[in-house]
This record gives sequence, structure tokens and C-alpha cells, in this order.
Amino acid sequence: MQIVRRIKDFKRALLEWRKEELRVALVPTMGALHDGHLSLVDKAKTRSDRVIGTSFVNPKQFSPDEDLKIYPRDEVSDKIKFEKAGASLLFVPSVAEMYPSGYLTKVYVKGISDILEGKYRPHYLSGVATIVSKLLILAKPDIAIFGEKDYQQLCLVRTLVRDLNLEVEILGVPTVRELDGLAMSSRNTYLSSSQRKIAPNLFEELRGICEIARKNGDIDRACISATQKLLKKGYDKVDYIVCRDSHTLSKYDPRKNSGRVLGAAWLGKTRLIDNLEISSRRVES
Ligand code: PAF
Repeated sequence: MQIVRRIKDFKRALLEWRKEELRVALVPTMGALHDGHLSLVDKAKTRSDRVIGTSFVNPKQFSPDEDLKIYPRDEVSDKIKFEKAGASLLFVPSVAEMYPSGYLTKVYVKGISDILEGKYRPHYLSGVATIVSKLLILAKPDIAIFGEKDYQQLCLVRTLVRDLNLEVEILGVPTVRELDGLAMSSRNTYLSSSQRKIAPNLFEELRGICEIARKNGDIDRACISATQKLLKKGYDKVDYIVCRDSHTLSKYDPRKNSGRVLGAAWLGKTRLIDNLEISSRRVES
């Protein structure tokens, strides 16, 4: 696996592949790879001739009071994992390479950037839109792969690709979970052992809401009740538990569209997010 740090070397490596008319997949990450990331590489391999991994902790998607400084970084282990998983090229730029002095441009997707995660993490989604646009423009991949774990991010990327007419297929890959249901995340390493035991309740509560939705139950009430249960079970704060339209993340109408239940909650200083598809196998009334 080739490792490149400079944009000019990245472009040169890709030029060779283009000449050979190879189909290229991009797997953007912030490093600290876990099995969830590796499932993205696995999916990418089935849909392309060459897989590019990127590892860049993007400062623009962190608010000043967030965990940029302590976000886990392990370049040596990331390299080994990307290579073992079958990536052919790893792009590991510095902050100065991606945002040189005088850098001014920000990509902002109206609406979707301001709700849910955007309400609680105001820098996050425009930071993601900016870095993902840059990576897609640089790499010009045929396909780019994102985890469904960050579901709002996936919806945002699909929207910006549509709006900017970028010629890339965006593929979402289902969340990989620990045996007890906790969604894999680089931030799970922040949890103490007692918090780690409480953490899977977020998934359990979302699953419960899906079950109620499937039986045509009252989902608004189910979301309120799930919030209360999480607080009772040891979560310190719940930012939101909601059911939304799967594509737009606007209001969910069970009769008209497919839905997603999404949640964000805190265990101490660690904020966990998760989401599940509301199965279409609803009982018709
Ligand atoms: O999901 C992530 O790891 C990041 O938000 C991404 C898409 C790599 C952009 O920095």
C-alpha cells in the first residue's frame, strides 16, 4: 500500500489508475480505525479495482469546546489495518496541506446542517461538507463509502453530491456493532468501564422504538419514554431521540415514507449517537 501525504503525490498516484481505466473507491476516515471502518473497505473492494483510504482528523468539524485535541490518533496501527483490509493507497495529509494559510472556503448544505446534530454541534456538518467536497474533488472516485452510524452525515454527503453535480456514487454501509449492540465508534474508547456497561442501552431503546413503529404504535410517545428510560439507566443527558424521514431527515410520516430513528445522548463527557432503520414491514391498519 502506497502512503502519500501531499496533494500533488495523491493526484499523481490517481492519474496512473485513471490511465489504466481502473474503478476507484474512496473510504474517508478520521483514522483510529475499528471494524466499522474496515467494513467500509470490505464493501469498497467489492465495488472497485482500487481502494483509497484517507485518514485526516479534520479540525473544521470540531467546535472549540469539543474533543479535537484528545481525538484518538494512531497512524501506525491505521496503516497496518488499511493495508491488511486491502486498500491500495492511503492519503494522510497534514492540516496545513488541506487548509493552507489563507484558506477561506466553507461548504454549507442548508437545512440538513442545522437540525439534529447541527443544532448541538454547530461546526460539525459544514466541516464534514467542506472536507468531503475537497476529498471528492481531489480523488474523483467512482464511488465513496460512508458508514450509516453517522446517518445525518451520510444524508448530507448525498445532498452535496447531488447539488454540486459531483460524479460519484455514494454508498452507505450498515453500522457495525459490538456483541451487546453498541455501535462501534472511535469515541467509545473514552468510556469508563461502568459507562461502557450502560452504553448499549441507547441501541436497545432505539430498537424498542422501531418495534413500536412496526406495530403502528405512538412513536412520539415512544421517543419521550425512551429518553426517560435512558436517563434512568444512567445516561447523563439526552440531546434527542426522534423518528425522521430516511432521506430528508424532516418529519416522518409512517404512511408515506421510510423512516429512521436517531438518538444522541451523553455518558459523562462522551456523546454517543446511533440510529436504526424503521422497518417497512409495518402492520397495515
Ligand atoms: O465520519 C468520519 O470519519 C468523518 O466525519 C469524515 C467523513 C471522514 C470527514 O472528516
